[in-house]
Amino acid sequence: MDKIVQISDIHFCIRDKSHDSRKNLSLVLNKINKLYDEYILVLSGDMVMKADKAHYIELYKYIRNFTQNEIYVIPGNHDDIALMRELAKQADFFKIQDTLEIGNNDIVFLDSSEKGEYLGGGKIDLSHFEVIKSKLRENSNKIVFIHHPPFKIGAEWFKKICLDNGDLFMKSLLKINNLKYLSYGHCHNYFIEERENTVFLSCPSSWIQFDHSCHHEMKYDQKREIGFNVFHLSDDIYHDTVTVSDH
Ligand SMILES: [Fe+2]
Repeated sequence: MDKIVQISDIHFCIRDKSHDSRKNLSLVLNKINKLYDEYILVLSGDMVMKADKAHYIELYKYIRNFTQNEIYVIPGNHDDIALMRELAKQADFFKIQDTLEIGNNDIVFLDSSEKGEYLGGGKIDLSHFEVIKSKLRENSNKIVFIHHPPFKIGAEWFKKICLDNGDLFMKSLLKINNLKYLSYGHCHNYFIEERENTVFLSCPSSWIQFDHSCHHEMKYDQKREIGFNVFHLSDDIYHDTVTVSDH
């Protein structure tokens, strides 16, 4: 396996009334299948619009119509991690775990779904993160997946709902050897920046993007394309962010 495909912020709705979460997810999955056969799929949070059993199971079945590849998930602020863990005890469900070794790469999955100060914000358990760090191989290349951006980005309203304890988390990240990527969701848009040899990359939403030029309130950007990320694992790791036209 030499590819990881990341989809984020699906906000899957069993009955799409006024929004297109299912249709747009199908456009994304069809595009992925056109490009690749084998890959590991990562869903980086806000998987469902309503965090109940029915929504998670329907989403799982829906994606299984497109791929039989392994699917790893992390929770977002709209998810219920306790319920997800309960469902994951069944044989057929999304996989939930802290780390995954693929060749010389260590993949890290973090839970930032603990409530932050503002509705929609998040926090991570830093002591648990230290435990995860201690399991990583010194010389491996690493990718970290987390739902909330670890620093404040985007519109003013959005800056309040990034990772609450992001400053301490960023300091702790610096101590990881060969951290190639940190990839987050939540922002429903396209952001990329490099800091200290690590690429901090957002994954666009598979449903709809936010208009981050509107600072006082949350607004959708209907014109911005949906998309997904792909990480190619070789001696080094590189990525593509693929946009998908929905019309
Ligand atoms: Fe979110």
